[in-house]
Amino acid sequence: MEKKDYKKEFCTLMDKFAFRYSRWQVWNDFLSLSALSLANVMPGPENDEREKRYLSIMNSYQKEDQEAFPKMLGLVVLALEENPEQDFLGSLYHYLNLQQEQKGQFFTPYHICHFMSELQFAGDGKETQMEEKGYISVNDPACGAGAMLIAFANVAKKHGINYQKQVLFIAQDIDRTAAMMCYIQLSLLGCPAIVAVGDSLAKPFPHPDNEVWCTLFYHLNQWRFMPGKAGRETADGRETADGIETTGGSMERTMIRLSGNMELLEGADGQLMLCMEQAS
Ligand SMILES: C[S@@+](CC[C@H](N)C(=O)[O-])C[C@H]1O[C@@H](n2cnc3c(N)ncnc32)[C@H](O)[C@@H]1O
Repeated sequence: MEKKDYKKEFCTLMDKFAFRYSRWQVWNDFLSLSALSLANVMPGPENDEREKRYLSIMNSYQKEDQEAFPKMLGLVVLALEENPEQDFLGSLYHYLNLQQEQKGQFFTPYHICHFMSELQFAGDGKETQMEEKGYISVNDPACGAGAMLIAFANVAKKHGINYQKQVLFIAQDIDRTAAMMCYIQLSLLGCPAIVAVGDSLAKPFPHPDNEVWCTLFYHLNQWRFMPGKAGRETADGRETADGIETTGGSMERTMIRLSGNMELLEGADGQLMLCMEQAS
């Protein structure tokens, strides 16, 4: 069977907007729409506000253009489903030459990220950390599209760690475009993650000025982020570290509360993937 070229298909969809909107605007609107719909999968007090933001972006496009956005997200889902070992949006960003808009911003090639993650696992006590805390955490304070964290997830899986339950991902980027790419990819790969938009030198996470996005798997595993809290303590059977608390997961209970057109699919290896519902 012929292999699908998802990047090419994505570009074909983007080209439909040509002459009416800039690629940069379409890319950013695509990221915002996708991030908002992924965040709204989890019911919460911010749902209405997110829905309003979604509609205001969507309504700035003509009807025939609107249909392209879910198709574009569908291609990202398919690409990551076919090969989770890649920074699909990051490489698409370069493929579309969008880094020119951000003064030559450059993301690390995936194979280098993979190599660097393997080094992280080479005898630095990840197993001890797992035993002590029941989870490990990883932080990229200049996350770009999330290549380093995606590689870390895949390498953790290779080392027998279920990253969907046992790893907490923290990501931050000063550039909102980059942070949104990271949020979308970590969401689709089922990483429990907090993605913060903000300057990690002046306002490192957790800072009250950070714009914070939590993935569905962060909520499903009942991680809790407590601003201002640092260090590690144990109280009432709950563990905290670096302002992050986990109370253990209850995935089945929360799964049925998914909304929108997203669903969770389980792969042959038991790995869950956030997918768009198939039209029947
Ligand atoms: C070279 S890219 C690396 C991205 C990603 N870690 C990777 O390896 O693909 C550097 C990233 O750092 C971000 N950045 C630069 N200064 C920053 C700051 N002060 N706070 C947060 N992010 C910053 C940029 O927006 C850019 O996305």
